[in-house]
Amino acid sequence: MANPDLMDKLVSLCKRRGYVFQSSEIYGGTGSVWDYGSLGAELKRNVKDLWWSSMVHQRDDIEGIDAAILMHPKVWEASGHVEGFSDPLVECTNCHRRFRADLPEVEGGQCPTCGTKDVFTEPRMFNLMFKTFMGPVEDSSATIYIRPETAQGSYVNFLNVQGTARQTVPFGIAQIGKAFRNEITPGNFIFRTREFEQAEMQFFVKPGEDEAWFDQWMEIRMQWHKDLGIDDAKLRFHEHGPDELAHYAKKAFDIEYEFPFGWKEFEGIHNRTDFDLARHQEYSGKRLEYIDAPTNERFLPYVVETAMGVDRTALVLLVDAYREEDIDGDQRVVLGLHPKVAPTKVAVFPLVKKDGMPEIAQKLQADLRSAAIPSFYDQSGAIGRRYRRQDEVGTPWCVTIDGETAEQNSVTIRDRDSLEQVRVATDKVVAWVRERLL
Ligand code: GAP
Repeated sequence: MANPDLMDKLVSLCKRRGYVFQSSEIYGGTGSVWDYGSLGAELKRNVKDLWWSSMVHQRDDIEGIDAAILMHPKVWEASGHVEGFSDPLVECTNCHRRFRADLPEVEGGQCPTCGTKDVFTEPRMFNLMFKTFMGPVEDSSATIYIRPETAQGSYVNFLNVQGTARQTVPFGIAQIGKAFRNEITPGNFIFRTREFEQAEMQFFVKPGEDEAWFDQWMEIRMQWHKDLGIDDAKLRFHEHGPDELAHYAKKAFDIEYEFPFGWKEFEGIHNRTDFDLARHQEYSGKRLEYIDAPTNERFLPYVVETAMGVDRTALVLLVDAYREEDIDGDQRVVLGLHPKVAPTKVAVFPLVKKDGMPEIAQKLQADLRSAAIPSFYDQSGAIGRRYRRQDEVGTPWCVTIDGETAEQNSVTIRDRDSLEQVRVATDKVVAWVRERLL
């Protein structure tokens, strides 16, 4: 169901509570570029750590790398991005704003900004790669591109990684990093931006085994999102039709989420065949074939790619988690984030600022810090307000030190979603939380 209000509320919450700020806000902001505040940075880090753990640490057939953003300009000729990574652009001759020609309003003939009808120029192709110059000379010989996808770093390092890590096909190369696209029509908060982060994995397989691996990766990736607690009913696959396929793909499925602005992609699974390796072999003049040890068979592997947007996944998590509730006439806003991704896991409150309660609470928070469990201490205001502040940022558990704590050596732990309160021995709180995070 479209719910544009939800986006406004979420953008406001994100700014107010330190999830996301507009980039260079004091200068009026930079178009469609965002900065993550202390909570947003934790949320994104959690997403990346969970992805890396599932791809690299929990498998023996995937290696992680961290390739540079700047690459040899020929990489982007070989990859097809110089020639083909373009969107059709039109300009409104009334207000001079530029749009993607395939936006529904533009296709309907009306300018999305000034509303004038039938005033667009003929579409022309606009390359989405950012360009700059390498070194002190600013001419075409020094032109360099800022990568629009992380994948190419894995292709040009295919044999380096395979040889040094002593991997045999099938195996994968994973990396997380920034990518940049000079999008014509960015928008919807952190959904479509000009600078963003990708978590991509290229899985190299024997030709002929690509279809079976493609199916496996579709299943693994969908399950991974469900395990983050995202609502099943709002997740689906969308298969690319022939006119949607990227220039490198033989087959592609998007994982889509039902955002307040409609069903949209936040991860793609692509069968890139041997397109990239074959092109790099051709453009670099270096053989990139894999030699299968037992048979000495030489071949260029096919690639099944899983390409997730980290920022879009963060947006999915925030949208999916946001809810408003009425509890006995009291309104609350809750981010029901899964504890694995919640920026702060535990808030610690002394019920009142006296009778030794702050000291016990501070000692408990120090124990949580030593155990590397992100926590937050708050002793100001009524307890109900302190709960609400934590509900709004998605903290799963609030621990309160009360009048009985000193005598009984126990505290209450309140669950954000069920609102249930349990009493737990003070010296068992760290273990209690850790058990639930595993
Ligand atoms: N290497 C393949 C590739 O880049 P893609 O479908 O163009 O494929 C993969 O991008 C993911 O990167 C998308 O599903 C999306 O989550 C994210 N992404 C792409 N463009 C983006 C943008 N302008 N802003 C934010 N995320 C973007």
